[in-house]
Amino acid sequence: MRHVLLTGATGLLGRYLMKDLLSRGVKLAVLVRPSRRNNPYVRVEAAMRVWEDQLQRSLPRPKVLCGDIISSDLGLSGPELSWATENCEAVIHNAASLSFVSTGRHSEPWRSNVGGTENVLEFCQQAGIEKFHHVSTAYVAGKRIGRVYENELNVGQEFANPYEESKVEAEEKVRSSRFLKSLTVLRPAIIVGDSNSGLTFTYHNFYAMLQLGCTLVQSMAQKDFTGKTRGDDFKINVDGHERKNLVPVDWVSEAMARIITTPSLHGQTYHLTPRVPVTVRLIRDVMEEVMETYGLTFSGADGVMGIDQEIEQIFLKHMEVYHSYWKDDPEFDSTNTIKALPDLPCPLVDRKMLTHLARVAIQRGFNWRDPKVEASQFQPELVAN
Ligand SMILES: NC(=O)c1ccc[n+]([C@@H]2O[C@H](COP(=O)([O-])OP(=O)(O)OC[C@H]3O[C@@H](n4cnc5c(N)ncnc54)[C@H](OP(=O)(O)O)[C@@H]3O)[C@@H](O)[C@H]2O)c1
Repeated sequence: MRHVLLTGATGLLGRYLMKDLLSRGVKLAVLVRPSRRNNPYVRVEAAMRVWEDQLQRSLPRPKVLCGDIISSDLGLSGPELSWATENCEAVIHNAASLSFVSTGRHSEPWRSNVGGTENVLEFCQQAGIEKFHHVSTAYVAGKRIGRVYENELNVGQEFANPYEESKVEAEEKVRSSRFLKSLTVLRPAIIVGDSNSGLTFTYHNFYAMLQLGCTLVQSMAQKDFTGKTRGDDFKINVDGHERKNLVPVDWVSEAMARIITTPSLHGQTYHLTPRVPVTVRLIRDVMEEVMETYGLTFSGADGVMGIDQEIEQIFLKHMEVYHSYWKDDPEFDSTNTIKALPDLPCPLVDRKMLTHLARVAIQRGFNWRDPKVEASQFQPELVAN
């Protein structure tokens, strides 16, 4: 059996994919860039130790390749490039920038999402890799309304942010790569933490808003006689009935691992979306509960977001980035996913689960730290097999 090359293995979804694929006996290679603190070997070893600690059993290690998708040849050294060319038969392209803001096409998210995808495709073509699993997003639908099908991509829709647009362009690049014999496109909705443990490694979207909300509430008046902070000066410019599609990371990864390891399921596009979306009102209720505040009001979709004090205006500025996040989602048709995985429905993301996810994030201070791995004692050769 030859190796499958995974990009983005150090991210939220990538860490789950690494665990789930290695647990299934997949021979995995991972392309990882250094962080400010650690080299790729140390990063992957630390991530694997987290899983071993959680699962209380040992796991095989992936082959670690030091690289960066924004560089040609994926930034691989000569020997690593030769190894990858000789030993990899498929790619799971999961790495991406999740930045919602951009200063232009030379910067993120374009650089990693479009340029990076081009580089990964070029590497595949040169290495003769014809099997490709592409992690896209359900939000390639942009600002579409109504029902969105798995076989649709660019229908001239508008986008809420450069991230969505860059992911459409990336998907188009992949789809137009004629040398690929098998292309599977996986489109998750908004990924939140683990449906059981609440574990998450990153704090985008739902968490970023929750974190801003927590900071805002802390900066506001003290608790009143109810024991809570009054939040009715703070208006959010939505109606409240807008729907958002949240999916727990453990389910997304399990679904992807099943699809990737079942050849008969390749060659399709899958919306990895929930059975039932949550409403913005529910998210608001959960935020009020965990932040111990009350009275956050909706001013309507055309209303003005606002509160008076200067400090809170600063927070509203930050919230603007997530304005698009509050808009009503389209209805994601997931016929292919339901047919492929009839026994693996998405767990219901309801008030109880959202509250649990929010509480875990607050307890952790919206922060994740891997266990320390001593670089000096750690021998890369041990994992490089
Ligand atoms: N999170 C969501 O709600 C969501 C929803 C739908 C689809 N998706 C898609 O799911 C995939 C994974 O997302 P995620 O939530 O796991 O994101 P994440 O936690 O931010 O992880 C992104 C991963 O990509 C890597 N990466 C980014 N730019 C890179 C580069 N230039 N070279 C090498 N690696 C690079 C990061 O490496 P570092 O650790 O070095 O930064 C990290 O491992 C993405 O394709 C994303 O578009 C995510």
